[in-house]
Amino acid sequence: MKTSLVFGDAAAISTGMLAVFAVDLAVSKDAAAHPVLLTTSDSVAGAAEKFLASGEFKAAACETLLLHAPAGVKAERLLIVGLGKAKKLTVQEIRKGAGTAVRFAKPRGIRDVAIAFPEDRALSDEHMDSLPCKRTARALVEGAEIGEPDWDTYKSNRKDLNVWSLQLVARNGDRPATEEIQRGFDEGLTVAEAQNFARRLVNEPGNVLTPTVLGERARWMCGEVGLTCEVHSMAKLKELGMGAFAAVAQGSNEPPALIVMTYTPEGGAAEGAPVLGLVGKGITFDTGGISIKPAENMDKMKYDMAGAAAMIGAMKAIAALKPKVKVVSVVCSAENMPDGKAFKPGDVVTTMSGKTIEIINTDAEGRLVLSDGLHYAKTLGCTHLIDAATLTGACVVALGYLNVGAFANDDAIWATFLGGLEDSGEKFWRLPCTDDYKDGIKSQIADMVNSGGRAGGAITAAMLLKEFADETPWLHLDIAGCAWNEEAKPWLPKGPTGIAVRSIVEWVRSY
Ligand code: BES
Ligand code: MN
Ligand code: ZN
Repeated sequence: MKTSLVFGDAAAISTGMLAVFAVDLAVSKDAAAHPVLLTTSDSVAGAAEKFLASGEFKAAACETLLLHAPAGVKAERLLIVGLGKAKKLTVQEIRKGAGTAVRFAKPRGIRDVAIAFPEDRALSDEHMDSLPCKRTARALVEGAEIGEPDWDTYKSNRKDLNVWSLQLVARNGDRPATEEIQRGFDEGLTVAEAQNFARRLVNEPGNVLTPTVLGERARWMCGEVGLTCEVHSMAKLKELGMGAFAAVAQGSNEPPALIVMTYTPEGGAAEGAPVLGLVGKGITFDTGGISIKPAENMDKMKYDMAGAAAMIGAMKAIAALKPKVKVVSVVCSAENMPDGKAFKPGDVVTTMSGKTIEIINTDAEGRLVLSDGLHYAKTLGCTHLIDAATLTGACVVALGYLNVGAFANDDAIWATFLGGLEDSGEKFWRLPCTDDYKDGIKSQIADMVNSGGRAGGAITAAMLLKEFADETPWLHLDIAGCAWNEEAKPWLPKGPTGIAVRSIVEWVRSY
């Protein structure tokens, strides 16, 4: 999709379909819907007037109404997209609305689309200022770009239903506003492209995307955007003493990949400045190993590298946005397989840090690869750590599919992360990992076990990681429930979501 930002009257844009947003002004539950368009274009408002007055369209969230040959508007079709109640309007509704517009066009074969920039000026004073220009522009372009792909990649009769061109049409207004819109648009496009890059990785089946191939794709991306990238395999894991990561990898014929990507700000990193470490779980397929998973839904475990993909995607955006902080990403990729050479329950492994782990369950492999990845990031100079991982089914049980489970050993790093969420529009919910949970991973024979059992499973997994972050400020994102969208939404297709890319990027930018 070729996406551009144009300034002018939306009514004058020639396009297959012009989408315009509407909100419902009705306040009380029982009052009749009172839909109002978020546009100051008299021509666009005029074209829709009769239909809005008819009462058949209520401007509920994701509700759509299509008009053909709208009078006084150059577009062939006018699509009105509802955003829900005016008093609850935020940029997150804009994000969904933009995705809804693009996804409406696709099955109908509409190849070029325009979206009118939502203007809260069209509302009364009390509803204004819910849509700051820059954030709105970002949400628009991100929502549209994230909504566009369909993940039917390997269908032999795949129909190309792609939207080819998208124009976002904003009014020619005062200077600061148009500049803000342009900046939001540029940033949004960069971040959305990075998120879609992550989604393409997650979408690949395990037979295509092996650890080696993940390493090649990361290396290719780094070459394109000017990041340094090293990809190592088993020999290096052994040399570094990564006993936990190597144990997970040893049961597969596919060699592991330790991927290290580095972004250095212009002029180099200042002495004593923070260095951010982005650590990703890259299990390209998780059978569970000797503690093998049931057959049902095992196919889903191709997305067990979504944490790695989030970090690779984030690095792509970071390279383009050029924050003033050094960032090092460590991705630990392996395939978790049962085999004569595989690691077993009861085994004890020695991690790179020197700490030992007793294996209770070979299906708790993510924390093993990350234990070495987190420690390694520290040896590379990282002063602040963040990891992303499809780590536990327990996190899905606890929070469902809407919130990522977040953990931190430091309130300041959590506060910084929270600060970026309004821009990213992603949802995270903090769960505890206080030291009193440490009993849950006690081992008789070693420093800790790799599985604390069912109770508080997301927390005990985080407790193990915390041992390896140790004194370093650290954030852990358990994205197991949010990395794959099981049910298509009007604004989002079924498949990989690219969750956490946007929030990680915002976190990095706040240093
Ligand atoms: N990759 C899984 C976690 C997972 C489950 C991700 C569902 C996405 C959806 C992880 O490696 C795993 O198997 N965790 C176990 C841990 C248990 C053995 C302590 C789990 O959650 O059951
Ligand atoms: Mn597992
Ligand atoms: Zn796993």
